[in-house]
Amino acid sequence: MAPNCTVLREIASEIQDIENDASLADMTNFAARVAVIDRIEFRILDRLDGLGDLPELSRRAEGLQNDLEAINQALFRGLREQIRLGNCTGAAFRNEMLRYTGAASDAHGYDAIDVFVNGLLRGDTAPAETRPREPEMVFYQPTPARIVLELARKIGKGDVFYDLGSGLGQVTVLVNLLAGCKSIGIEFESAYCDYARGCAAQLELSRVEFVNADARNADYSDGTVFFMYTPFKGAILRRVLERLAAQARKRAITIGSYGPCTLDLSKQSWLTRMDQNGNVENKLAIFASSDEEN
Ligand SMILES: C[S@@+](CC[C@H](N)C(=O)[O-])C[C@H]1O[C@@H](n2cnc3c(N)ncnc32)[C@H](O)[C@@H]1O
Repeated sequence: MAPNCTVLREIASEIQDIENDASLADMTNFAARVAVIDRIEFRILDRLDGLGDLPELSRRAEGLQNDLEAINQALFRGLREQIRLGNCTGAAFRNEMLRYTGAASDAHGYDAIDVFVNGLLRGDTAPAETRPREPEMVFYQPTPARIVLELARKIGKGDVFYDLGSGLGQVTVLVNLLAGCKSIGIEFESAYCDYARGCAAQLELSRVEFVNADARNADYSDGTVFFMYTPFKGAILRRVLERLAAQARKRAITIGSYGPCTLDLSKQSWLTRMDQNGNVENKLAIFASSDEEN
């Protein structure tokens, strides 16, 4: 089948436009680079695939993609080094991240900040699960980074933060970087825990820990702020909330939540809702333990 000439001309001109766009080499144009890398994948390479064997155009498109990825990788290497040196934490880290990605969107899903965080924190491919989850345990899915940015604003240096069901460790690491506090992830899946430890180690973060445990049995005795992105449901969630309520009888605690579990937390008589976000699953909810029941 002869390739469609109009489509080919369109693709060639799109490649040419990207090749001519010098602004994409500017380190701070991260979001634009991410959009163009996607465009090359889905609008150019996919279409070229469908048109048959067109090695010259495919080679140019893949070359562009590799060059843009290389700029992002250089950016992440530099930033990791600044983090290791202790020069890029707290407000400096937040500002640096937003400088590259633009302000956090109010969208429902993930945005350029998530692509940035993935690139910064993750070297290797995510591991597969090694043990079966109980039916009430929720599979891994990361909290959108914009939610973590909002959460970290509620946390101080002196807090001890726990992410219950910490998955690949993104929330735990980001909260430590943004708020400067001790940050602990509790995760049932050992492969996720090992992976998360690797992320923290590459950044030399001494106040980040990952505990491979069931959240029903973990030690929360030093925790002041807890976070859940709906890691479990039903009886597991009830048991973990009982354990947190027991902690709240000893000292005031804060719980952040995201996703459907917010509804369950809002029914707890020992918790008072502190934010104005309503029972909307795609917004962060913040609860403070109240004295009445304690
Ligand atoms: C929706 S993901 C949230 C991941 C992480 N908090 C984040 O936002 O990036 C839920 C995680 O909870 C873990 N999990 C489920 N049940 C658990 C339990 N009983 N104890 C500890 N972790 C559990 C799952 O393995 C999964 O990694």
